Amino acid sequence: MLKRKPIVAGNWKMNGSVELVQSIANAVQNVNNQDVEIVVIPPTALLSNVVASGVVAGVQTVSEYDKGAYTGEAQASLVKSLGAKYTLVGHSERRSIFGESNEDVANKFAQAQANELTPILCVGETESQREQGQTEEVVAAQIIAVIDKLGIASLVKSVIAYEPVWAIGTGKTATPEQAQAVHKFIRDLVSKYDAEVSQTLQILYGGSVNESNSELLFAQTDIDGGLIGGASLKPDSFTCICESA
Ligand code: G3P
Repeated sequence: MLKRKPIVAGNWKMNGSVELVQSIANAVQNVNNQDVEIVVIPPTALLSNVVASGVVAGVQTVSEYDKGAYTGEAQASLVKSLGAKYTLVGHSERRSIFGESNEDVANKFAQAQANELTPILCVGETESQREQGQTEEVVAAQIIAVIDKLGIASLVKSVIAYEPVWAIGTGKTATPEQAQAVHKFIRDLVSKYDAEVSQTLQILYGGSVNESNSELLFAQTDIDGGLIGGASLKPDSFTCICESA
């Protein structure tokens, strides 16, 4: 069976400082695992600091526009030229707080790829959607919006992160079985379009991952690492999580 390289990405959200970049960079240097891609995704204002620290960097979102009069936005081309490798698109906080639709997210995905950034497409259901049995429908719609706009080949140079909204920042992690079931659903969905793409696609789990639960989550067949929020701000926890991937 094909081996997919695990990724552990720390999404700092609107947290962190110049000092934290240095502590995390020092800690990451000592991670005893050559097989994992470690990524730090700070607020965009700290992007250059992360790049200068030698750690692989990403940003949390990019504009869906190329350039121009869009106050407050950051364009993918600039982010790329500053040294970012990845960008998140469609994080649930961007969807719920900033009103990003599936179509907006697909546009950002396209901007990222047009500028050689690897998009990490975040998908996931809310608690009430899960309770109403809509998890698969919601996750499928979030992924199909990208496939419909950009084609299945666009998933080749991308990553998907499954983050159930009810598990984000709540301490309520999905069980390894719950997470694996949705990851398998995603892989099977992609496989209906292209079996090879589905086998190479890295699918990360996010939502209250910490150093005590990461090993079991990452051991699941279709889980290829994690997107880490709170625990990525703590150098010791983050390095333990990286080592468990
Ligand atoms: O993108 C990471 C995220 O939303 C999960 O956050 O704090 O639950 O690990 P957290």
